[in-house]
Amino acid sequence: MADEPRLRDVAADRDFEIGAAVAAEPLRTDASYKKILRNEFNYVTAENALKMGPLRPARHTYDFRDADAVVDYAREHDQTVRAHTLAWHNQTPEWFQEWDYTDGQLEDFLRDHVHTTAGRYRSRVDAWDVVNEAVADDGTMRDNLWYDAMGERYLDRAFEWADEVASETDLYYNDYGADGVNEKSDAIYDLVSRMLDRGVPIDGVGLQLHALHEKPAPESVAENVRRFRELDLDVQITEMDVAYTPADDPGDRDARWEKQAEYYRAITEVCLDEGVDTLVVWGVRDSDSWVSSWFESLTGDPLLFDAGNDPKPAYHAIKETLETYEPN
Ligand code: XIL
Repeated sequence: MADEPRLRDVAADRDFEIGAAVAAEPLRTDASYKKILRNEFNYVTAENALKMGPLRPARHTYDFRDADAVVDYAREHDQTVRAHTLAWHNQTPEWFQEWDYTDGQLEDFLRDHVHTTAGRYRSRVDAWDVVNEAVADDGTMRDNLWYDAMGERYLDRAFEWADEVASETDLYYNDYGADGVNEKSDAIYDLVSRMLDRGVPIDGVGLQLHALHEKPAPESVAENVRRFRELDLDVQITEMDVAYTPADDPGDRDARWEKQAEYYRAITEVCLDEGVDTLVVWGVRDSDSWVSSWFESLTGDPLLFDAGNDPKPAYHAIKETLETYEPN
């Protein structure tokens, strides 16, 4: 267990939000998980519960049980909530595979989904990742089902529909691999600029920052954050995790954890320097992380707490930075 003061209190003293992605299952069954979550984090993102697939078991049916469990637990413990996500190409409902929809039916489905879901949580969540991962790695628009049916305007509509029912909620575009300045973040910069020119109600951009195979240089992340903030958009780090493999670093595990801590520290400093007030890590303990099941070659220890519920060097690095760092 971590020492006093708690990470969330250190963060709050600095008007900072330190978050974790949260799953519904351990909230029902795992007291240690819940203890870390409520004591150390003042912000949560639903890891899967608010995605379209889990919410829509059938065409005209919603199942809000897991989503309510995550959101209600967070509110009870005075945590800010990020909802994730309304329009994405992954984790769509399984029955989509068999559905012979027309473009118009898919658009109607998305409208209903956004109205119902964003409307239901309007007073309980603070931010929505309205659209997730609409840009491909080469900077072209990702050719997904929404884009096929509606073209680029699917983004405009999703944000407008969300704004119609949840005008107080901050509405974000969220993506990975676009953390530093690169071809993909250039394309996202152009995309959100076009949306702003069209009057789309977008409030911010989420940088996922899965620092797994590559770790974007902190200076490049800072430069990227600056240009989005110059568009008058908020920027948050929304899904951070950091993996150093034995291949990257032949030293022992402790050496890798120190390196990992230094990367978390550097990104926390970027946040404080550049006016980013929220940093979310993608899971609570290493044993809760998605990484080892998704990427065979990566170590499964990308987070702030180890599988035995103890804080790692990365936890202490973030806490110390929030306690002592003087921004540029
Ligand atoms: C991941 C979850 O962590 C996994 O549990 C799930 O099986 C797949 O999705 N980018 C995102 C997140 O925006 O929604 C993904 O979450 C990780 C990558």
